[in-house]
Parts: sequence; structure tokens; C-alpha cells
Amino acid sequence: MTLSTSELTFSQQRNTAPKSEAERAAILADPGFGDYFTDHTAVIDYKVDAEGQGGWSNARIEPYGPIAMDPAAAVLHYGQEIFEGLKAYRHADGSVWTFRPEANAARLNASARRLALPELAPELFIESLRQLVAIDRDWVPSGDGEALYLRPFMIATEAFLGVRPAREVSFRVIASPAGNYFGGELKPVSIWLSTGYARAGEGGTGEAKCGGNYAASLAAQLEAEAHGCKQVLFLDPFNDNAIEELGGMNIFFVFKDGRLVTPALNGHILHGVTRASVLQLAADRGMKVEERKITIDEWRDGVASGDITEAFACGTAAVLTPIGELKTADGVIASPGSGAGEVTMSIREQLLGIQTGAIEDLHGWLTRLA
Ligand code: COI
Repeated sequence: MTLSTSELTFSQQRNTAPKSEAERAAILADPGFGDYFTDHTAVIDYKVDAEGQGGWSNARIEPYGPIAMDPAAAVLHYGQEIFEGLKAYRHADGSVWTFRPEANAARLNASARRLALPELAPELFIESLRQLVAIDRDWVPSGDGEALYLRPFMIATEAFLGVRPAREVSFRVIASPAGNYFGGELKPVSIWLSTGYARAGEGGTGEAKCGGNYAASLAAQLEAEAHGCKQVLFLDPFNDNAIEELGGMNIFFVFKDGRLVTPALNGHILHGVTRASVLQLAADRGMKVEERKITIDEWRDGVASGDITEAFACGTAAVLTPIGELKTADGVIASPGSGAGEVTMSIREQLLGIQTGAIEDLHGWLTRLA
């Protein structure tokens, strides 16, 4: 797949009917997650020409609004789509920063390779964020734990019903002011153990960030909700019921002896940017970090013996969210504690502190957007 050049410059078409200041203020007072969108969107087109040469063109900022697409567009039929999630944080001096965008750019390209979509130069990925946040900077919230959630995505727009990689593609970024992913105040969430469904398999798309993985999690998510749970946990039934990940986030366990354990990246599990950052911050504070196989039996036994003291979910949207209990069809099999664990909350505060500029960014993780 052709890598784009970074030489594109963005044109800008301003929204002539943006939300009023009062409307925006009302939204920012209680943004929730994923319900509201800013006034603009960033777009870059990709096309393969008659000689079979692919290239990106027409980088632009345009008003936020519906996408006109042919009903035969490949994404609508075969789900050729990938996405990313990252956040823009307002610092005390009003400047706006994002967190490890080069990691998201690299993951977008890894997902693109798996879904036979074109790669995008990382500088162009980051420039599209910068352009969008610059024009919509008033939308970046400043409340505790709040940020502007950025959602880059790539879709196959070519109108063709044969099954092959599309020759026309659109890369877009939208932005949505965000508070707590699970709504309301941060509190421990209940997790439902899925036994009937797996999220990923050997050689599948589990480590790609493609819409299909999330669509495939929804039947299990419905089961979770029917049992009063906020997320679903997937296992690998062909590997001793090893814990894989939640419907939309990675999972971690805190051990009494100071170890922090998370399932190893095995080709099925998303390479979470928050996951990688938590591993680094835990190692920095002297914890022993282990990326390895951890089974549902180890969770059950570890909680029963007191060896596992905390469990948490993590992702860009969820930050670090404590797990209160794990429910199964046979009842609650493991409950590391119904409160928010001390280690979980301490790493969460540290990560948010770095992202919002309150704590020094010793790893050079922040990039200024506006
Ligand atoms: C994110 O954490 O950014 C994701 O993409 C996961 C989704 C559940 C919102």
C-alpha cells in the first residue's frame, strides 16, 4: 500500500452555522461521552488511479455534517473500516495538547495493513488533529477528567460490490467533548463474563482497531447489560480460558505483592496506548509488571486467596476505571473489591496529571495541538 506524502496542505471551509456560545457552554457543562460533536471535521481522500498508483489528496477542514456516500460504498457492505481514539487536553495556560499521537498513527497503519486499507503518513495524521483542534479549540473542556475525544477513522467509499480492497477511501477526524465514558461520576463497574462468544481468534482481526471487532462484541454486550453490567470480558476458549480483553478496553490486575499483570499481546489483543502507558508508569514506580497469560481460574483463585487486590479496565475513553465485580451465568465468581482500588486510582491520577499538564511529562508523551 502506498504511503502518503506529508506534503498536503489543508484547505478550510468554515461552518457558517456553528453552535452558539450558549449551546456549546450547555454541552460542555455535562459532556457525557460521544453524544455531541464539534463544528468541523478533517477529511483526506485517497484514490487509486488508472495506473494502479494510490495517493492521498484534498486535505481539508469542512463543516461537521452527514457524509454523502454511494449506497454501494464498500464500507456499507463489507465493513472495510478502521478507527482510532485519542484525546485533546486543556492545560492551565489554555494551550491544548494530545497524548502519544505517534502511537495512534502507527496503530492506524497497522490496522490499515490488516484491513487492506492505505497507510497514512504519521505527520499527516497528526496535522489533521492539529487542524481540527485549532478551529474547534473552544470545544476542549477543562473539567476534572474531561477532554476533547478525537476519533480518526478510515472508510472504503468506492461504489463496487465485488469483494476486494476499495480503490477509493476517505480518512476523517471528528471530535466530541467527553467526560466519564461510563456516565456520571467515576465508580467501579461490573463486568459480565462472556462464555458463548469470543472476541478474536488466531489470525483474525483482534489486534486491529476495526469497527467489525466492536460490532462483534455487541451481542455479548447486550448480555452484559441484561445482567446489570457495563462491559463484557472475553476469554480465549482454546487457551485455558485465558483472559483477553473487554469489549472496548484492556484489563489489568494488581497483586498484593506489588505486581501488575495484564494479558500479553498475542495477536488477538488491542495494543492499547493507555495499556502501554500504564505499564511504563507502574514500572517507573518500582512495581513488577508482567505481560503474560492470565486465566479466569487465576483471577478466581487470586481473589479468593487475597493475592489479587484490584482489577481495572483501561483505554483512552475509559482512562483507568476500577472493576467492582465479575458476574457470570452462575453468579459472581470474583470480586476484587467493590471500592476503587488505591493503586488503580493512583495510576489514574498520575496519567491524567501528565495529560493535563499538572505533572511533569518525563517521557515526552505530549504533543501540542493548539
Ligand atoms: C477508546 O478507548 O478510545 C476506544 O476506542 C474504545 C471505545 C469503547 C470508545
